[in-house]
Amino acid sequence: MRATRASKPTVSARLPDFPWDHLLAYGERARSHPDGIVDLSVGTPVDPTPEVVQEALRAAADSPGYPLTVGRADLRESCLDWLARRHGVTCLDTADGTVLPVIGSKELIASMPVHLGLGPGDLVVYPELAYPTYEVGAALAGARAVATDSLTSLGPERPALLWLNSPSNPTGRVLPREHLKKVVDWCRERGTILVSDECYLECAWEDRPLSVLHPSVSGGSAEGILAVHSLSKRSNLAGYRCGFVAGDPALIGELLAVRKNLGLMMPGPQQVAMKAALDDDAHALEQHARYAARRARLREALTGAGFRIEHSEASLYLWASRDEDCWDTVSWLAERGVLVAPGAFYGRAGARHVRVAFTATDERVDAAVARLAS
Ligand SMILES: Cc1ncc(COP(=O)(O)O)c(C=O)c1O
Repeated sequence: MRATRASKPTVSARLPDFPWDHLLAYGERARSHPDGIVDLSVGTPVDPTPEVVQEALRAAADSPGYPLTVGRADLRESCLDWLARRHGVTCLDTADGTVLPVIGSKELIASMPVHLGLGPGDLVVYPELAYPTYEVGAALAGARAVATDSLTSLGPERPALLWLNSPSNPTGRVLPREHLKKVVDWCRERGTILVSDECYLECAWEDRPLSVLHPSVSGGSAEGILAVHSLSKRSNLAGYRCGFVAGDPALIGELLAVRKNLGLMMPGPQQVAMKAALDDDAHALEQHARYAARRARLREALTGAGFRIEHSEASLYLWASRDEDCWDTVSWLAERGVLVAPGAFYGRAGARHVRVAFTATDERVDAAVARLAS
């Protein structure tokens, strides 16, 4: 039979396995629990979208014209106000083109290497334990990819792009100021673009995470740096697809120029809703308190059931281990109707951990706690 172009999915074949498919059988097992599944795997927000945001979306429903890729000026202002007000980032000015709204941060992360012109011969570096989309982005560009937390292990290499993610998915680890600073200096020396995924910056419990754009880290300049933010977790807005990227105007300008041609514009009503979310801290504090309570209950129950919790100072996850293969732990929990993500999804170093999200309702968290105690 003659092979046709259509029969050769060469792009998807380059991408890593879609990991969640491997969890389906465990999901089935957890669902068969008489009191139903407690799904702590994907970590999707379950609490209502804040009223202030819903109201803004409703009020902006009439939207016949095309939005601009660069986003509304008042939205860009709110992004930078929020960075300054909540995270002490003062080196950015909207007039310089330092911020760009994105349709959820995942699309930006996956497409950034291609959009910044990386290709075969370029190196992309990301954390040893990491959100899988960094690898997807490198693979789409045909770039080489190395997962490491050690700059010295890179020897004389000059990566084209290096990802940081603090607080981390999956471990909840927060990188200290000195570490961030060292990475900034290293990247600037080598001409490496530093992109910091800060989508859990406001989900902090036992530490105070810093933006890479904080003056004590960046030296008060965004040169060579981009920071990626998402409203999905802070504001229960995963369904609206609202994020933004901020930093070096030369890099933002290049992303804008490419994204304009691709029609990657955030819908107008969503831009208005995102602005309302960024301008309001009250709902974020309420949501923070909800997660803190769920985290404390689950943490205690897991520890009581013999788990060891590592890192987990921030993010929406507990990084837990029973000192056994992660799939055995996934299976042990699925037997009790609780579904979690195996650490192996995030890198080889996660083979003996599981990632437990605390984004379920209070009622489901209570169910998990009761099952872990029995
Ligand atoms: C580390 C990290 N970055 C980015 C994202 C993408 O978030 P979103 O596309 O909803 O903005 C996620 C989602 O879970 C994540 O864990």
